[in-house]
Amino acid sequence: MMTGKNRDGFYLTTPIYYVNDVPHIGHAYTTIACDALARWHRMRGDVTYFLTGVDEHGQKIQQAAERRGMTPIELCDEVVVNFKKLWDVLEISTDDFIRTTEDRHIEVVRHFFKTLVERGDIYKGLYEGWYCVPCETYVPDGQIADGNICPDCKRPLTKMSEESYFFRLSKYQDDLIKHYEQHQDAIMPRARYNEVMSFIRGGLQDLSVSRTTLKWGIPVPGDERHVIYVWLDALINYISAVNYPVPGGRWETHWPNVRHMVGKDIIRFHAVIWPAILIAMGVNVPLRVFAHGWWTVEGEKMSKSKGNVVDPFEMAAIYGKDAFRYFLLREVPFGNDGDFSELGMVQRINSDLANDLGNLLNRTLQMIEKYRDGQIPGDSSLDGRNDVDESLRALAGKTLADMDGEMDDFAVDSSLKTFMALIRAGNKYIDETQPWKLGREGSGGRLDTVLRTLWEILRLSAILVYPYMPSTAGKMWAQLGLDGEVSEARHSTWQWGKTSREIKVNRGDVLFPRIDLAEWKKEKVSRDAARMAALSLEKGTPAGVSESGKFGQISIDDFKRLEIRVARIEAAETVERADKLYKLHLDLGFERRVIVSSIREFYKPEDLVGKKILVLCNLKPAKFRGIESRGMLLAAETTRDGRELISLAVVDDDFPAGSLVS
Ligand code: MSP
Repeated sequence: MMTGKNRDGFYLTTPIYYVNDVPHIGHAYTTIACDALARWHRMRGDVTYFLTGVDEHGQKIQQAAERRGMTPIELCDEVVVNFKKLWDVLEISTDDFIRTTEDRHIEVVRHFFKTLVERGDIYKGLYEGWYCVPCETYVPDGQIADGNICPDCKRPLTKMSEESYFFRLSKYQDDLIKHYEQHQDAIMPRARYNEVMSFIRGGLQDLSVSRTTLKWGIPVPGDERHVIYVWLDALINYISAVNYPVPGGRWETHWPNVRHMVGKDIIRFHAVIWPAILIAMGVNVPLRVFAHGWWTVEGEKMSKSKGNVVDPFEMAAIYGKDAFRYFLLREVPFGNDGDFSELGMVQRINSDLANDLGNLLNRTLQMIEKYRDGQIPGDSSLDGRNDVDESLRALAGKTLADMDGEMDDFAVDSSLKTFMALIRAGNKYIDETQPWKLGREGSGGRLDTVLRTLWEILRLSAILVYPYMPSTAGKMWAQLGLDGEVSEARHSTWQWGKTSREIKVNRGDVLFPRIDLAEWKKEKVSRDAARMAALSLEKGTPAGVSESGKFGQISIDDFKRLEIRVARIEAAETVERADKLYKLHLDLGFERRVIVSSIREFYKPEDLVGKKILVLCNLKPAKFRGIESRGMLLAAETTRDGRELISLAVVDDDFPAGSLVS
């Protein structure tokens, strides 16, 4: 069995994403991390194949399509575009994009199914479980609410049994344990390895791999009443994309080197079910399954109804795709859960990208322009090195080696920390060598050495940072005056000082302008308000006051200036020539007063009389149809099915009129 250090081929996969919804940062995260790894390996000279795609079959997709009044394939064709667009925007360098509705995939799935039936590893049996008829789904034992109720629609479940095909997962329990005992880095990080091992040791049951309750899927060969279970279908994408089992194809060069990147929620499918299927097929199992953690947003689980789903398109548009990529990769130890906060991103951009990386480039190029007319000093200037230069040069070599080791372990965040340490050392080197003094003192030779050393550090840095921030690396490359594309650079051919021709630097725009925090906060408040307003429009309810933020904040003293009291409605009179208005006679306990209110289309007079409502009493009086209104009643408003609705704010009947609301 090969180890993670295999250098011949590098085959990396993302999960294939469900097309029932638009992409969010969770999807972006996995794909960006894989992109950085794939680009790293290409630079290392490995023959790399990087696959992503979409999962288009199954219940989720069928239901989403029904909700939108479309056929499933119409939905898939529409949503897949969003994923492809996002990968373009984020500069994801995939070698292939697979859809599970493609023939090349369907053929392989059918081949797997048939072969497993022939070998006796898939058999027909009875599937028994608690079924929710309205939701048309089996509810797993662990999710059944008390009283056998569906966790989603809260209606009673029915015990059902139906014919199903099963995969003999139980048969492979020992093979899996043995394999993982021998390959302890086949599941990473370690905590996930332990979790999967104890799950396998706890006993594996055969797995239902077909459905008769669903139409949208690949029919079981020879028994078309069944469709193949979506997870079996989906997992096979990894091998159908490399042309299994065509001889001499990628499947031979790349499959032995396959590594799967997944989120922690789907580790068991990849580290238990999938390898068991592969063993049953006589195919080698994945070299590695790495599970990364989950993002929350400002401390909360991401959810559509909360309106806190982070849109990767928006983040890339506001902060730039590279800064967004950098933040996701650097912020959280890869494998752990993380919390996404835009403020955190702004701070990271300012400190690491503007202050450290951008600044090192800008300072260096400015000095080369100022003292050497933009011409970089020849590499002979590196001969006059002293200890300070030597230690920076040694750090550069070590940085490349360390990052390489870290990327081998998928420790993406650590590799960026290592990179940033080199950048900080570069800035410190400027502070220590004080090139501006050398210029003044006429120490020309020494100044050449310093400038050349800095330029070399930046040349290497552009190569090192390319996998994480490809555009930034390209800009650095051009500003340093280098020819060709940074993507063409290879770790093995990189050498300190070996740049033959004369080079003139090309200082351009600052890479990462500092974000002004005060400005940013203002912009963020109005963006949040717009988002919440859009969300409430979608939901058909008006923006909630506190959640929208659009009202700005008030102090408790501001609130105390509102005189809101309980009032009893004594009578409701219609107003001539005003079919929306009522003249309401109110009892405030200590006085009687009249207000005019436009609630006539919502309430009959008899519904109002006797009600204890809330009234804002110190509102400036105003006249409607000649009647003076001294106050305003409080009510909630909404629209439902395009119709406006209101509900009066009322208090308990026995509550005394005149009471103050605070
Ligand atoms: N279609 C299956 C995968 C099949 S692979 C053979 C699927 N799709 S998914 O679209 O629901 O999720 C894809 C990935 O997004 C998963 O790896 C999941 O962990 C990841 N994420 C979803 N929400 C996430 C966060 N909030 N944070 C990080 N990743 C998250 O599952």
